Amino acid sequence: PAAVIVAIDGPSGTGKSSTSKAVAAQLGLSYLDTGAQYRAMTWWMISNGVDVGDPAAIATAADKPVLVSGTDPAAPTITVDGADASGPIRTREVTSHVSAVSAVPEVRTVITELQRSIAAAAAGGIVVEGRDIGTTVLPDADLKIFLTASPEARAARRSGELKGKEAADVATTREALIKRDAADAGRKTSPLAKAADAVEVDTTDLTLQQVVECVVTLVEEKR
Ligand code: C5P
Repeated sequence: PAAVIVAIDGPSGTGKSSTSKAVAAQLGLSYLDTGAQYRAMTWWMISNGVDVGDPAAIATAADKPVLVSGTDPAAPTITVDGADASGPIRTREVTSHVSAVSAVPEVRTVITELQRSIAAAAAGGIVVEGRDIGTTVLPDADLKIFLTASPEARAARRSGELKGKEAADVATTREALIKRDAADAGRKTSPLAKAADAVEVDTTDLTLQQVVECVVTLVEEKR
């Protein structure tokens, strides 16, 4: 079958990553986590003394780090200037600054170009997950999915993912998540949005397996 391009967007905690990885693995497609790229950019800025409260400083530094994504859905990786960033990009510090960094147009230009070149190079097809994939990055994707879920379900899922000293109660997670989604949906450049031709799937009352089956069926119809 021809290389199929699948865009999966939606707010945090809707099951985007789990769904995207499982769909890619099941169909033999590559997988790209674009949130990891914005997180890696944010981690590099914090580590290199860039003032992440200053959009002009962020803009100037946007083309400095070298981001490389590994696209195997069974073991996705991200390196920054050759260093493995998989751990540090998930800390609460990075999470709390990523929306501000990703709102800067220069950052989006650099990362969007990278995403398009990765998708173009994926000969066997790819699942790309994020916030603006169907609307901006890959507007010609073969299939666009927009995942949603109630705020309660999203906060519960995120709390379950946080471990050890970073673990927070569901209420705290819910507040942080709602704030981040509002920032992502409210920014000027390429906000979180459902593409007009995207299929919306509400995952609140579905198991991961049910969501995966639903998306796999939709991909197979396109092939
Ligand atoms: O998906 P994840 O929660 O890891 O994304 C982290 C952040 O990266 C989002 O909150 C958003 O600010 C940014 N992001 C984005 N565009 C994307 C993917 C992620 O702005 N396509």
